[in-house]
Amino acid sequence: MRLILVGPPGAGKGTQAKRLVSQLNIPHVSSGDMFRAAIKNGTELGKQVQEIMKQGHLVPDEVTIKMVIARIKEDDCESGFMLDGFPRTRPQAEALDAALAADDLSLDAIVLIEAADEVIIERITGRRTAPKTGAIYHIKFNPPPEGVEVTQRADDTEEAVVQRMKKYHAETAPIIPFYEAKGLLKSVNGLQTPDQVTEDILSVLGVRKS
Ligand code: AP5
Ligand code: MG
Repeated sequence: MRLILVGPPGAGKGTQAKRLVSQLNIPHVSSGDMFRAAIKNGTELGKQVQEIMKQGHLVPDEVTIKMVIARIKEDDCESGFMLDGFPRTRPQAEALDAALAADDLSLDAIVLIEAADEVIIERITGRRTAPKTGAIYHIKFNPPPEGVEVTQRADDTEEAVVQRMKKYHAETAPIIPFYEAKGLLKSVNGLQTPDQVTEDILSVLGVRKS
């Protein structure tokens, strides 16, 4: 299955992707995680994107497209992938379509996880991640187990979140009609419990829970 998870910051894309990929047996391809790994490893790409991300701006399309298209051409993506955080602009959506079409491939679905702006700040400012495992926690909704070391993302400040939400509405939300017109769009309510959201995603994809 070739899938895209889309939704505002804090909608639960990463949380749901981690739960779904083992069931669907496809790799989780998160553009945000790839950029964060580049920053952590001190690569040229990391240096280029560090400040942009910290401020909640979007990395330029040409940089992002090159990185993600190369990733989905790797062997483990042959039978499918779950994209999280890409595409998030119209040029990125068109580049993905063109890259897939060149290999006679196409997307199966784009799942929109809907979440109101009001809940986003609380979700994001309370998020903690475990650097060792990549697990995503929340100080109130999903507290990390005792003894697990957690950190906060550099772009999880209130200021950066406001900027990320602006970018989402201005740049990313407009790609939704592009996929709707292709009949690929499936929407789920992201304001439910994580278990309920997972169940709804599997249901809109027509996958039976194993
Ligand atoms: P990215 O990493 O993609 O961040 P984002 O889109 O802002 O989304 P988040 O990761 O913040 O939220 P999420 O939806 O994954 O939520 P999560 O599951 O963690 O991008 C970061 C930056 O990288 C961008 O700003 C940009 O600079 C750059 N970038 C990346 N891709 C790019 C691209 N394609 N083009 C250009 N630039 C790009 O959940 C959030 C919190 O809520 C957690 O604490 C979680 O425990 C909690 N939670 C989740 N679900 C629930 C629930 N159902 N109920 C209660 N709490 C919940
Ligand atoms: Mg995420």
